[in-house]
This record gives sequence, C-alpha cells and structure tokens, in this order.
Amino acid sequence: MKVLGVSGSPIANSNTDRAVRRVLEHTGVEETEFVKLVDYQLAPCQACLGCLKTNTCILHDDGNALCAKAREADALVIGGFTPYSSLDARTKIFIERLYPNRHRHGFMRGKPGAAIVTTALPRQVEGLPPAGETGINSIMFYMMEEGMNFLGGIRVEGNVPCIKCGQSENCEISGLPMIYGSGATVENVGVHALENQPDVLEAAANLGRRIGEALRAGATHASGNGASA
Ligand SMILES: Cc1cc2nc3c(=O)[nH]c(=O)nc-3n(C[C@H](O)[C@H](O)[C@H](O)COP(=O)(O)O)c2cc1C
Repeated sequence: MKVLGVSGSPIANSNTDRAVRRVLEHTGVEETEFVKLVDYQLAPCQACLGCLKTNTCILHDDGNALCAKAREADALVIGGFTPYSSLDARTKIFIERLYPNRHRHGFMRGKPGAAIVTTALPRQVEGLPPAGETGINSIMFYMMEEGMNFLGGIRVEGNVPCIKCGQSENCEISGLPMIYGSGATVENVGVHALENQPDVLEAAANLGRRIGEALRAGATHASGNGASA
C-alpha cells in the first residue's frame, strides 16, 4: 500500500508541507511519498482532450509522471493554500492535470482522499470570503467527482504575507487590520505555525489514522473476497 501526499505551497518546509507530512506519518502505512509541486514543471491543462483515448497527457512536462504517482498510490492527500481566498494556482493545475486518470478506467475511484488547506482566514471573518472552506471544497469536489472516498479536510491557520513585509504599519491596505481588526500589529498577531495549533495537529493525526484504517479495511475486504471466490 502506498499513500501520496502533495503540497502546492512553494515555501520550503511550509505549514502546508508539515501538515501533509503529519497526515502521511499517521496513516501507519509503510510506503508514503511526499511531493512538492514547485519541484515539478507543470503547465495548465489545455482542455484539448488529447488524453481521452490514451489516459496520457500530450504535454511534455512532469504532468504524466505526477499522474502516474497518483494512479499508483492507494490514497491521496492534497495540500494547498488560499491566495485571494481560493485554492492556489499550482495545486489547482495539479488537480486538473490528473484528468488523464479519469477516462474509461476511473483510476482514482474508491481511493481514500483528504485535503489540507493553509489559510490566513481559517474562520469566517465578517466581510471576507470563506477562504478555507473554498480551498477545501476545491480539493473535495475533485475527489468527489472522481469517485474517491473523501475522508475530510483540515484548515491550518497560516500567515497573511503582510506579517513579513515590514511595511504593514504604513500600508493603507494591510491584511492585518483587515483580518484581525483595527488594533492588529505584527507583534500581537504573531507568526502562525502548525505546531502551535493543537486542535489542528490532532485533526491531522486523526485524518492520517482514518486513511490508514480505510486502506486496511479495503485490503481485508479485497482479500476476503478473494478467499471466498
Ligand atoms: C499573493 C498571496 C495572496 C494571499 N491572499 C490570501 C487570501 O486572500 N486569503 C487567505 O486566507 N490567505 C491569503 N494568503 C495567505 C496564504 O494563504 C498563506 O500565506 C499561507 O500561510 C501559505 O501557506 P504555507 O505557509 O503553507 O506556504 C495569500 C498569500 C499570497 C502569497
């Protein structure tokens, strides 16, 4: 059995990466692979339908290799973040480039799947879009439409880039007061790390365990079927 974890965050060892890795670690599955999309060349899907007959994309980049990784995995965890309150482009491109896994065979059908979304807006803030929910939905809808067994999505509280820019006190459109209210400063908001979010750590561990359980139940079921055949 193999579980594939994918992170669309381009930041090295980011919150998204660490959350995806945590899910993988708790599956109890020996073979896991973590993939960072920024390390791959991936153009957007051309909607040419060139993959319909061959289940292979006509583009000559890393899309087919990533598709093969997803096809060969027994479970898939996708992690992204939410620039402008929707799923980041790299993760969305990855999802759309998994289209060759669909035709005739439905290669992803029945596989356990899960979503991780790091967002500066983990909860609903009045007047701002539901970024975390939108990000998770983007991943969940992919998994639902491919007939996967979506086991859950987790929001990690991330950092609005304004926390790092050094100009937020002089900025008329700083995200800090926009998200945290008028008295918000770099000091009182602070940098959010996954490791300081016990509920999220627990949720990620539980999600990993649920993926492992689903895989083992599927394997038992399959071997049970085989034995009785
Ligand atoms: C250009 C840009 C725009 C962003 N806009 C939003 C936003 O509208 N809403 C939000 O929740 N987070 C926004 N973010 C924050 C990211 O969700 C945040 O940086 C997240 O922590 C990144 O995850 P990572 O630490 O795993 O890389 C934005 C980030 C970037 C780079």
